[in-house]
Amino acid sequence: MQIDALSLFPAMFASVMSASMMWKAQDRGLLSFRAHDIRDYATDKHRQVDDTPYGGGGGMILKPDVLVRAIEALRPARETPAILLSPQGRLLTHQVAAELAHLPRLVLVCGHYEGIDERVRQLAITDEISIGDYVLTGGELAALVLIDAVVRLVPGVLGAAGATDRDSHAHGLLEGAHYTRPAVFRGLPVPAILTSGHHAEVARWRRRQALLRTWQRRPDLLEKAQLSAEDREWLRGQGHTPLGPPDRPGGS
Ligand code: ADE
Repeated sequence: MQIDALSLFPAMFASVMSASMMWKAQDRGLLSFRAHDIRDYATDKHRQVDDTPYGGGGGMILKPDVLVRAIEALRPARETPAILLSPQGRLLTHQVAAELAHLPRLVLVCGHYEGIDERVRQLAITDEISIGDYVLTGGELAALVLIDAVVRLVPGVLGAAGATDRDSHAHGLLEGAHYTRPAVFRGLPVPAILTSGHHAEVARWRRRQALLRTWQRRPDLLEKAQLSAEDREWLRGQGHTPLGPPDRPGGS
């Protein structure tokens, strides 16, 4: 996968992209990443990238000529999405990340200051994504969140040990609790089932932990999750009356 980010502050990407899994993905040849300076696409002698808004008001607006030139230079193929990071975009979820992880190339456009000229959206932006209902000073941190969420889903990036299948949100539920050695820590034992060696029982326990945690912390997710008849029966036994979509045939 190739990801190009356009930013006024390309140095913001360096530390995150040179550590941990993002670095490994590049080292393994699974990701090619570059941050580009929007200013490099300005043609006047002052390399001006922004201007005051028509109609008055505060703040500076990124100029359409510079930004469209930059996006077009990085996006030779029409199929490559040019994604603007903005609080007005569709919300980044696991499903959106999984959808983007299938694509060979992404161009990420990071606004700064008051925003971008609307004509950039009309002419060169194909998608707009927000990482939450709050406003950041620029799109760079949002782009890094998106890159991390997407790249970890690219096959081979986490390796078999870090399989993403049980991640929170991967199947609409939060992940249950995890434990490692020691078996007893400050008087708190690991649940006995985890040391029993019964794989099917462990899987059932994990599913129930995920149901319980989701019910306790994000009941909104539980109402939308695909639950099996066994899930529903177990939840009812715990005092919960799940609504949600119809039972998934043969689901677990
Ligand atoms: N830029 C500023 N705020 C943002 C947000 N919440 N998500 C994505 N990009 C942004």
